[in-house]
Amino acid sequence: MGKQEKIVSMFNDIAGTYDVANRILSMGIDKSWRNKACKKTFDLYGKKEISKIVDVACGTGDMILFWKKIANEENVKINEIVGVDPSVGMMEVGKKKLPDVEFIEAGAADMPLDSDSADIISISYGIRNVVARQEAFHEFARVLKKDGLVVISEFTKNKKEKLTDHLTDFYMNKILPTFSKLQKS
Ligand SMILES: C[S@@+](CC[C@H](N)C(=O)[O-])C[C@H]1O[C@@H](n2cnc3c(N)ncnc32)[C@H](O)[C@@H]1O
Repeated sequence: MGKQEKIVSMFNDIAGTYDVANRILSMGIDKSWRNKACKKTFDLYGKKEISKIVDVACGTGDMILFWKKIANEENVKINEIVGVDPSVGMMEVGKKKLPDVEFIEAGAADMPLDSDSADIISISYGIRNVVARQEAFHEFARVLKKDGLVVISEFTKNKKEKLTDHLTDFYMNKILPTFSKLQKS
């Protein structure tokens, strides 16, 4: 299995526990970052009606929930939101939370979407998982409308790794996948 396939397979394994783990591990910080990212984007874009938002690496759909929530609060009308992810397992969880949203199985570097079709492309806590990153950025440029916006949210590694960073890595890479596999069996 190649590096990208291994990553997707890992997300398929942890899909059932991803939401809970994410809330615990980020201690809710991801919520305030998602809020800020959506608000800032609507502010920058300045339009009260948006035709299409594409959330790449959408996983279980958390960023889509925030696009909808903040759009509601800011009186922005979104005509269509599409989630794109290569992990069917993650999107299955997302479909239950967001039955009215279209989820498309695809990687960021090769999306079955029309050129010049998206007003906003978001990718939250996902770009680090994209192996063909350069190709993905070309793909974003192709799909994005002129003057559209790309919104990238991501964690960076501390220069000096703390004990908590090692514990988080251990939890994400060892405990969580094992727990998910046990749950399935
Ligand atoms: C940490 S999760 C983030 C999910 C969601 N965006 C969120 O904010 O909770 C990373 C997601 O990246 C997806 N992913 C992995 N490789 C990818 C790729 N090449 N293109 C797009 N998404 C990818 C995984 O399947 C997973 O759902």
